[in-house]
Amino acid sequence: MFGNTRRVAEAIAAGMGDRVAVVLSSVADVPTQSPSDLLVVGAPTHAHSLSRPESRAEAARWARDSGSRLTLEGEGAATGVRELLEVDLAARLGYVAYDTRVDMPKIFTGSAATTIAKRLRKMGLSELAGSKSFLVDKDSRLLAGELERAEQWGNELADVVVVLHDAERQES
Ligand SMILES: Cc1cc2nc3c(=O)[nH]c(=O)nc-3n(C[C@H](O)[C@H](O)[C@H](O)COP(=O)(O)O)c2cc1C
Repeated sequence: MFGNTRRVAEAIAAGMGDRVAVVLSSVADVPTQSPSDLLVVGAPTHAHSLSRPESRAEAARWARDSGSRLTLEGEGAATGVRELLEVDLAARLGYVAYDTRVDMPKIFTGSAATTIAKRLRKMGLSELAGSKSFLVDKDSRLLAGELERAEQWGNELADVVVVLHDAERQES
């Protein structure tokens, strides 16, 4: 809604570098025809979990609030990851999940990534690495250093994919 989760996605993709081919998609246009090796699925935490139409409308109100320095992206996200995960997704090797959420203990904030991971596991996909949260302050602005952390994670995820590709090559 405000660009935090998108910016984290871009940083993860940058961290993956040229070693793996990366397709970056917004929730509205995830390619489902040719499954990826690794699905990296991220979402903002809304009301402790994945967004709903009502929470996205609430986010739009936050952005319109003259006191806020938030800008609503695109057309204000007509759909969300909750809706995306209503149909089965495929990924040859597996998935990882991340979210953005407020910088407080998870027990108070909830975590969209926890819900994403649970749903993808239920679809029968393997979790290739533990979920990550990237943190924002009380005004929904990413904390300093979070994009660098996301880039580093992208680098580690590319390592995992490369190792799995090498193992597959040796087997065949
Ligand atoms: C309606 C609404 C509800 C939210 N609820 C939570 C929450 O329960 N826990 C939390 O940690 N953050 C919550 N947040 C903060 C968002 O997770 C944070 O703003 C997020 O980084 C926004 O990402 P985006 O810019 O990709 O939309 C909420 C934000 C909105 C707009």
